[in-house]
Amino acid sequence: MSLPPGPRRPPVLQTWAWTRRPLPFLEECHASYGDTFTLRMARWGDWVLLCDPADVKKVFTAGDAVGVAIANPLLGPVLGPRSVMLLEEPAHMERRKLMLPSFHGAAVGADAEMMAAVARREVASWPIGEPFELWPRMQAITQEVVMRAVFGPDEGRLDGLRARLTALTEWMNEPRNLNRLVLFGPERLARSKGYRRAMGPVEEAVMQEAQRRRANPDEAPLGVVSMLVEARYEDGTRLSEGDLRDELLTLLTDGPTSTSLAWTFERLMRNPDKLELARADVLEGGDGRYLDAVIKETLRMRPPVPVVVRRLLAPMELGGHKLPAGTIVAPCVPLIHYSEDIYPEPERFLPERFLEGPAPTYAWIPFGGGVRRCLAASYAEMEMKRVLRTVLAAVDLQPVDERAEGMRKSAISFSPDRNARVIARPRPAGRPETALAAA
Ligand code: HEM
Repeated sequence: MSLPPGPRRPPVLQTWAWTRRPLPFLEECHASYGDTFTLRMARWGDWVLLCDPADVKKVFTAGDAVGVAIANPLLGPVLGPRSVMLLEEPAHMERRKLMLPSFHGAAVGADAEMMAAVARREVASWPIGEPFELWPRMQAITQEVVMRAVFGPDEGRLDGLRARLTALTEWMNEPRNLNRLVLFGPERLARSKGYRRAMGPVEEAVMQEAQRRRANPDEAPLGVVSMLVEARYEDGTRLSEGDLRDELLTLLTDGPTSTSLAWTFERLMRNPDKLELARADVLEGGDGRYLDAVIKETLRMRPPVPVVVRRLLAPMELGGHKLPAGTIVAPCVPLIHYSEDIYPEPERFLPERFLEGPAPTYAWIPFGGGVRRCLAASYAEMEMKRVLRTVLAAVDLQPVDERAEGMRKSAISFSPDRNARVIARPRPAGRPETALAAA
């Protein structure tokens, strides 16, 4: 059983292309080899990329026949081996069940006002009439939201964590660290002084808080920390300290939401007619469906997580190739999202395509799929919507450069290559837009 064909250049050059110019590289491979091709990655082995939704369905519904593979190579050392993202079945599902209630149903609604308040405070601090980068501002919002979701609203405790988490995020975003990861591998990066300096203080704050809550069981439960400290598996056992550390860091180092928000504004600014419709949905008391469609279309065109990596635990036929157990397979999110059969004119930003019905399960996969689908997907979509509403109601955003921003691979996600540069102006008073009514 041989793997499907793919580019012949040496693995180190393929890995370099994947890191430096991911989308053009993937598109070239797709044009040359079709829907199923093999990338040879330095350190991470061979990956069979899948671009046909039928194959994606097979992988996402394969149950025990697929395992976690290497997840995101950066995540292992950052999150720790006991994070839900890196556990194999059945431990993965047991852990997932403990975590789901924090990011589903009532929990999502309960945090909606907190999300808007965080966004309002952040927007009020933006410079007016001067260029600035939006991506770091979105990171500040999503970091504050996740800190509050995890630790609760106590300002004193949040103060202890905020600066440490910002320093860790900055370290993770440094292109130099991504290069070192590619060249030397994750283990060596995790042993480096820089990593320890960035991660140590966050770990300390998180563990102190978990221990404090465990020692004070009568304290009113607040945030995900309380929930996880109290959570019990079906056999009555609780999460160990190591488990708690890895889970809390998994949640606190969320990157894709801020990247997706930066892309949402970047896409809207390049498409002023859609921006008007989105703003009208906010200002004219629309039902929010257009904003939902904007978010879905942004996640289609600019999915922050480019591949969802799995390891086959049993042989499987994919794209007409019989692949052996042990093969790493990777549904390729941007190529699937640009499939012309499913999304006519895929290069155009058309939120309208998501107004008619639900997004196709195996052809819209920004949150992955199957039993490992992002467990905070509804939470993240709600957060994006609250931030979008707040910003659109408060300021007019204009792009600094005429040229659209390209995709760059940063630590965890595909981010805008100029960090989404904008100029903000106060919203002019006057008649609310009528664009939505006209549409
Ligand atoms: C737009 C924002 C987000 C995107 C695009 C995103 C994307 C993803 C993707 C692609 C996966 C892997 C799914 C798979 O392997 O099939 C994932 C898993 C996960 N995400 Fe997200 N994510 C987002 C926001 C968040 C947030 C805000 C949190 C929590 C604070 C979060 C927590 C997790 C967790 C815990 C998992 C592991 C689930 C499991 O293995 O069972 N994500 N996410």
